Amino acid sequence: MKLQQKLLLNKTEGKALLATNFYNFETLSAVLMAAKETDSELILQLSESSIKYIGLRVAKALATSAREQYGVTAWLHLDHGQNVELVKQCIDIGFDSVMIDASEKPFDENIRITSEIVKYAESFDINVEAELGYISKLGQDQKMIYTQPEEAKQFVESTGINALAIAVGSAHGFYKNTPKLQLDLIKEINAVTDAALVLHGSSGIPDDQLQAAVKNGITKINLATEIKNIFMKTLQAELKATDNIDLREVFPKATEQAKNLVANKLNVINIK
Ligand code: 13P
Ligand code: ZN
Ligand code: NA
Repeated sequence: MKLQQKLLLNKTEGKALLATNFYNFETLSAVLMAAKETDSELILQLSESSIKYIGLRVAKALATSAREQYGVTAWLHLDHGQNVELVKQCIDIGFDSVMIDASEKPFDENIRITSEIVKYAESFDINVEAELGYISKLGQDQKMIYTQPEEAKQFVESTGINALAIAVGSAHGFYKNTPKLQLDLIKEINAVTDAALVLHGSSGIPDDQLQAAVKNGITKINLATEIKNIFMKTLQAELKATDNIDLREVFPKATEQAKNLVANKLNVINIK
């Protein structure tokens, strides 16, 4: 099934897909093993910087052959595409989905840039996500501009996107204080837009709030920092404990821990 159909189905059924960022083969295999173990479907996300690190052709080939090898239904998605040329390259090369992120631009400019990508993606029949409002980025200011329901409605109608990332109290990276998602706002936006709603910044959000977010209309949940964190903390500890230079024996513990984290998250999200 196409991702855009799956997400809209989720919207009507009150379910959500987990979208996990991956950075290399180990984190990719970790998230796929977690999906396999929990019998879940999944979205595999690459940020612009991960594409720069791995290379677009290799990243695409790696993700699509790995999902096949693991026998998992997984869609490949570009996360936070700010470079229009790169977004188009991802569409050309066969991604299932792209996010065009012009959320830092003024409303009209965001509509114009997003519409350009929707038009470009049309003949490829892929999912297009965009962002409205402002979800703060790792290490940056904590300013929060919530997504307004009326603007969301207008934005979705003018652009024709399938999925909308909304600013409802989450932020990228870990939190200083426990976040408080605006559940009523999610519900209001869900009621007035046709698009599937996306929650960014899920690392650090307590399980009960993630479940409540899904109940109120979130259909895609983005997870990155917690995966990176557990992988690197485990790897760092392993490197302290061994001087083994066989990397194939050094990585698996970190991969296993990342797998356990994502499997847990999938179980949390899959609960009705
Ligand atoms: P976290 O890093 O907080 O999990 O956010 C992930 C995200 O939104 C990726 O787009
Ligand atoms: Zn994000
Ligand atoms: Na977060």
